[in-house]
Amino acid sequence: MSFIKIIKFQKLGDLRGSLVAIEEKESIPFKIKRVYYIFNTQKNISRGFHAHKNLLQICICLKGHCSFVMDNGRTKEKIELKDPTEGLLIESMIWHEMHDFSEDCVLLVLASDHYKESDYIRNYKEFLKMVKNN
Ligand code: TYD
Repeated sequence: MSFIKIIKFQKLGDLRGSLVAIEEKESIPFKIKRVYYIFNTQKNISRGFHAHKNLLQICICLKGHCSFVMDNGRTKEKIELKDPTEGLLIESMIWHEMHDFSEDCVLLVLASDHYKESDYIRNYKEFLKMVKNN
């Protein structure tokens, strides 16, 4: 069974175009403390390669497409993001890698906490050790 969690947002809009509204209480299972976005991505340049000890994040591909490899220390799954009405939940202790960015990709990330380098696990072996010991 897949451990990947997708949150579906309702697409509003009319003849003028589409609109998605994200409200913390309704759609997001945490208090949003930080928002960042990734853009000007290059073909064949991957990002991520880390896990977080506590942080929760939701990634929404607003434009273009990219793929995520999600790894809980036991299983790896790959998922493509290309739909701005879908958010990929990245829970804590999930090693994630981002690949296959289209040049027009805009990836929005909602995060449960401020930026803290101390929350990152950037070494894969250390990540696996921490999963085993939990
Ligand atoms: P990083 O999280 O390593 O990027 P990615 O996961 O996309 O590969 O962050 C890249 C750089 O930006 C790194 O020096 C930390 C910095 N940064 C911040 O200062 N604040 C933030 O909110 C984020 C996400 C990164």
